[in-house]
This record gives sequence, structure tokens and C-alpha cells, in this order.
Amino acid sequence: MTEATKAGLEGIVAGKTSISTVGKEGLDLTYRGYSIHDLAKKATFEEVIFLLLHGELPTLTQLNEFIDQLMSWRSLPPELQTVLKLIPKDCNPMDVLRTGCSMLGTLEPEKSSSLQLTIAKRLLAIMPSMLLFWYQYHMGKGSIETSSESEKTIAAHILHLLYGHPASPSQIRALDVALILHAEHEFNASTFTCRVITSTLSDFYSAITGGICALRGPLHGGADEAAMEQIIQFKSADEAEVGIKSMLTKKEKIMGFGHRVYKYGDPRSDIIKEWAKKLSDEPSKKNLFAIAERIEEVMFREKHLYPNVDFYSALTYHFLGIPTFLFTPLFVISRTSGWCAHIFEQRANNRLIRPIAEYVGPLPKPFIPIEERN
Ligand code: CMC
Repeated sequence: MTEATKAGLEGIVAGKTSISTVGKEGLDLTYRGYSIHDLAKKATFEEVIFLLLHGELPTLTQLNEFIDQLMSWRSLPPELQTVLKLIPKDCNPMDVLRTGCSMLGTLEPEKSSSLQLTIAKRLLAIMPSMLLFWYQYHMGKGSIETSSESEKTIAAHILHLLYGHPASPSQIRALDVALILHAEHEFNASTFTCRVITSTLSDFYSAITGGICALRGPLHGGADEAAMEQIIQFKSADEAEVGIKSMLTKKEKIMGFGHRVYKYGDPRSDIIKEWAKKLSDEPSKKNLFAIAERIEEVMFREKHLYPNVDFYSALTYHFLGIPTFLFTPLFVISRTSGWCAHIFEQRANNRLIRPIAEYVGPLPKPFIPIEERN
């Protein structure tokens, strides 16, 4: 296999970006030049969205205006509410965001690319509403009000809609940090999908819908849900040790471990692990945390593989009382900020993304008319 045809395009530079640095020697993961460690410690998700969309951190006035705008765009058009009610209760909630995003594109179409920033903000504001409206409707709560401005931030809004009451400051901050960590990650599969769609001059909603489709798979965003299913199957750390070793012997993949770019650890993992630890404040949670840590130890000992962002994010979400099947949709809500920034960047200097393939099929052969074939 030649360099250019490496499976999965591993290590291939597929374009330029000024949005984030991932796995560059001597450099931390950065968004627009800011270290993920600083952002996770000192910024809010709204500041990070602003940074990704505008290229600079906001001033306090800009941030407040931005938050006010996002709050004012949370409401669901009645037609979208009707569609959300029709989406089956037992579907994968990624279908809700995929369909919701696509439907919004029919109601509020991108008539001109000058609307792209407005659409980006509308999508970031409305996605939590779509997801939680659908969820609560099928939980028998009727048509919940999603446009409430009682919560300023996206993290607080999500948890309030989920719990039916305000969340505590530490719960809000834990989700806020998870959203910051998932916001952007260079040319990952879903972002690259958005850029490919954008490069054809398709519309904003199509690009985001494509991103949602790519993120759904368990090798990408779906890993957090798969990781949680793996963690909760064990009753103790010792049981996890035996179970994980046995899965490795059978060549099964352990979800939430390994990464295409990070071969010596994902910088986001330790940050979210701290939050999972902080939230493990009761015996059953402490036990789950111990199980997760043992899985981490076994994976390092046996395979030299490190947890990626999804492993301890799964535990953090679980400790926040978030149902497992909503984990990947939360990833969508966060990553939409990165996707939007990449769509802007692609559009600003667009050329159709159209690589070529190495042909490995049969040599040319004569066509045999159907009546002569046996
Ligand atoms: N469990 C067990 N073995 C693994 C794992 C794992 N999670 N990840 C990699 N390996 C092994 C793999 O079996 C292979 O071994 P061998 O060479 O003996 O066949 C070797 O490591 C290389 O693996 P690969 O699948 O070729 O590596 P890749 O760069 O193509 O894949 C990955 C990267 C993330 C898809 C992979 O590590 C994986 O499937 N991990 C589990 C799913 C997961 O956690 N995905 C989330 C990724 S990070 C966040 C995101 O993008 O959403």
C-alpha cells in the first residue's frame, strides 16, 4: 500500500486549518491557539463557541450579547414540534437530531451564505431543545417549554430540561467542561464529512446533518455509549479485570480506548476523569469509578492503550443522571460548534474535495451479451 492509500487515510494531511491543533509534537490540543487545559479550567462553553466561530475570545459585553442571542433562539417552530412527536420513542436519539436538523433546514432554509453565522447560532441554541422536547414528550411529560430563559448557559438549560428542575453548580460545570472538551478536534471523521459536503457548495444544514450521521458510529462519537455499556456490565473492579482480559483475548475492542492520532494518551481524558471522580460521591458511583480505573489499568498493562475522551465522559454523564442513549447526542450539541467553524473555514477558501482511488479491480475484459452468459 502506498503512502497515499494508507487505510483510513491515516497520517495523510487532507487540508489546512487554523481552528485547532491535534497531536502536533510539543503542542497541546488547542482551539484557536488556546490550550484545552486553560479552556477547560477557565472558560465556559459559550466562550468556547464564540472563540471557534469568531476566531477570538469575546469581551464580557460580546459574551453577554452572544448568550442573550442563544437564549432567544431556543424555541421550536410548531412544525418541528409535530415532527419530533412523530419520531418513535424507541429510535436512536441521534435520529432525532439528524431529522430535527434536516427539518429545520426546510423551515428556515439558508437562502444566502451571508446567513451562515445566524444558522450556526440557531442550531447551537435549538439542538438541546429538539433533543429534550422529544425525550420528555415520549416520557409522558407532554410538550415541554424549551424556550425558557431561566437558565443562561447551554449546560444549565440541558440539565434543567432533563431533570425538570435546576441543576447544581457542580453538575452544570461538569457538563460545561464535557461540552468544551468535545467541541472541536480538527479533521476527525464527522468534521471531515461536514467539510466534504460543504466543498460541493451544498447548504449549511446538509453539512451539519452529514456530520451527525458520521458521529453516530461507535468508532467515533458513539463510543461513549458503548463504553458505558461495558463499564456497567461489571459488578466490581476484580470482575472487570477478568472480563476485559477475556474480551482482549477474543480480540474484542474495548470502547473508549485508543485513538487514531493520540498514541500516548488523549489530553482530554485526564480532565474529564477528574470530573468523573468529583461526581463519584456515593458508594455505588465510587464502585463504578473503581471499575473504570481498573479497566484503564488493564488496558495499559495488556495493550498500552490509553482512554480517549469518551471513556470518562461516559462515566461523568452517567453520574449526572443522563441516560446512556443521550450521550452521543450531547456530543453532537458540543461538536456542532467545531463543525460550524470548519464550514466557515472551508467556504472561505473552497475547492471541491475530490480525492482519487487506487484501482484494485479486474483488468479490462470483453462484455458478454446476456444470452451468451452461462
Ligand atoms: N480495544 C482493543 N484493541 C484496540 C483498541 C481498543 N479500543 N483500539 C485499538 N486497538 C488495537 C487494534 O485491535 C489493533 O491491534 P492489532 O494491530 O493487533 O490488530 C491496534 O490497536 C490498532 O487499532 P486500529 O483500530 O487499527 O487503530 P485505528 O487508528 O484505526 O483506530 C480507533 C482508532 C479509535 C478507531 C480505535 O482505537 C478504536 O476502535 N477504539 C474504540 C472506539 C473508540 O473509543 N472510539 C472513540 C475515538 S476518540 C473520540 C471520537 O472520535 O469520538
